[in-house]
Amino acid sequence: MEINRLDIAKQIINDNITDPSMSEAEKFNAIGQQLLPIQELMSYYRCALMEVETKFNVLNEEMSILFDRNPIESIKSREKSFESIFAKLQRKGLPMTEASIASNINDIAGVRVICSFQEDVYKLTDALLQQDDVTLIIKKDYIRNPKENGYRSMHLIIEIPIFLAKRKKMMRVEIQLRTIAMDYWASLEHKLKYKQEVEDAAHVIQELKDCADIIALVDRRMEKLR
Ligand code: GTP
Ligand code: MG
Repeated sequence: MEINRLDIAKQIINDNITDPSMSEAEKFNAIGQQLLPIQELMSYYRCALMEVETKFNVLNEEMSILFDRNPIESIKSREKSFESIFAKLQRKGLPMTEASIASNINDIAGVRVICSFQEDVYKLTDALLQQDDVTLIIKKDYIRNPKENGYRSMHLIIEIPIFLAKRKKMMRVEIQLRTIAMDYWASLEHKLKYKQEVEDAAHVIQELKDCADIIALVDRRMEKLR
């Protein structure tokens, strides 16, 4: 969906400054103060990303000593864009305010952990979830239970504390763990999704599903080889 930045700005002003006696110009002048909480919130999510990345780096370091190989190929973090946050809240009919963002969107902070083998996904998941500052909110194991289109990954929504100067704040982070092979499929499938004018859609869906199954088979064979 194409979203105009001006529309986002107008919506933010409307959702955050609700005084009906104010003119558009007065609202516009008042918005600076109102935006601060949203900017603060976004910076807390960036802190949460740093915390989670560090947790995985520590586990990778420890496991590389214990097992003499790195279970993690790469870690990628991303902060959901303003446009995507806006689009998601609009779809749900919710306002673009700090409180609404914090309580309705779980994937503002996202971490993707690419692992060597499937076994590593489970080892890392278990190791993370048993840490005493990590609270599991949602776990979806799309590896044991692949999605209908063939998508495989471990999805976690967790809550972790970040420690600020005078308080601690609990933050939600979405984590996706998958093997290199699963990531290869997911990346290409994601790209193909944007080409929806494809003529033989049913055929494409079947092909993608077949590829996912073949890739999963290769993953299992590589794991056996190891
Ligand atoms: P949202 O649609 O993000 O609100 O989440 P959901 O409740 O449907 O959660 P789910 O855990 O199923 O998916 C969250 C994220 O996983 C998505 O934003 C994608 O990044 C990824 N994902 C889920 N399904 C697929 C898929 O079929 N293909 C690809 N490439 N990625 C997927
Ligand atoms: Mg999402």
